Amino acid sequence: MFTLQLLSALTSAALLVAATPAGPAPPRQDTCSTAAAKMDLPANQTQLVSPTTDPLFVLLGVGVQNYTCSASTLTYTSTGAVASLFDISCLDTTPAFAVIQTLGFDVWKAVPASVTANDIGAKIGAPLLLGFQYFVTSPSGTGLSPKWDFTSTGKFAGNSSAFVLGAKVGDITAPANPAVNIDWLALNNAGGSLASKVFRIDTVNGQPPASCVAGSADISVKYTAKYFLY
Ligand SMILES: *[C@@H]1O[C@H](CO)[C@@H](O)[C@H](O)[C@H]1NC(C)=O
Ligand SMILES: *[C@@H]1O[C@H](CO)[C@@H](O)[C@H](O)[C@H]1NC(C)=O
Ligand SMILES: *[C@@H]1O[C@H](CO)[C@@H](O)[C@H](O)[C@H]1NC(C)=O
Repeated sequence: MFTLQLLSALTSAALLVAATPAGPAPPRQDTCSTAAAKMDLPANQTQLVSPTTDPLFVLLGVGVQNYTCSASTLTYTSTGAVASLFDISCLDTTPAFAVIQTLGFDVWKAVPASVTANDIGAKIGAPLLLGFQYFVTSPSGTGLSPKWDFTSTGKFAGNSSAFVLGAKVGDITAPANPAVNIDWLALNNAGGSLASKVFRIDTVNGQPPASCVAGSADISVKYTAKYFLY
C-alpha cells in the first residue's frame, strides 16, 4: 500500500516535471483555421481571382523545377517538378506567414544535397508534411497534369481520394524578379476530390538560366511557393 502511494506520488511528480514548460513551445503539429490566410494578389490583372471562401489548405511547397535544354531553341524547357507540401495554416496569424516562402527558400538553398525537401519544414516552424506535388499523365492521356497528393503521408494518408489534379486557367509573371521567380498560377480541378481550385503564389526562384548550350545536362532548380487550395 505504502509502496503504491509512493509510486503514485512519484508518478504525479514526474508528470508535473514533464508538464513544466522548458523554453519555447514546440511547433504546432496539427492543422489550424485558414480564416486568416489571404492571398495578396497584384491589382490590375484578372488571371488570378481570389475566391471569397476561406481556403481549405494553405501550404508551403519546397522542391525543384526540372528543365531540359532544347537543342532547337537553346533554351531550357520544363520537364516537370516535384515538391513537398507543408501545412502552414498554424502560421497564418503570425508575421512569419508573409515571409515563410523566403525563409524556406533560404534554408533549402543552403542545405547540402543530403538534406531533402521533406526536411525543410521542421527547420522553419512548419513541420507538418501533408503531401507532395508532382506531375502525372493528364486524364486525357496526352501531356502532364500537376497533382497535389495527400494520399501517402500526413492526416489524409490512406485516403485514396485526397488528391487534386490541376488544369491551368490563369498565369501571371511573378510580380517581383520574374526572371528568377516562377509564374503565379490559378488552376481548376481536373480530377480528385481534395479541392476545386489551386493557386500557386509567392514564388521564390525556380526559373532556369535564360539560355543553354547544346548537349547541356538536365537541371533541377530549387524553389518554394505558397499553394492555396479552395
Ligand atoms: C491599375 O491601373 C490603373 C489604370 O491604368 C492605374 O492608375 C493604377 O496605378 C494601376 N494600379 C496598379 C497597382 O498597378
Ligand atoms: C526532377 O529532378 C529530381 C532530381 O533533381 C528528381 O528526383 C525528380 O524525379 C524529377 N522530377 C521530374 C518530374 O522530372
Ligand atoms: C478523403 O479525402 C477527401 C478529399 O479530401 C475528403 O473529402 C473525404 O472526407 C476523406 N475521407 C475520409 C474518410 O477521411
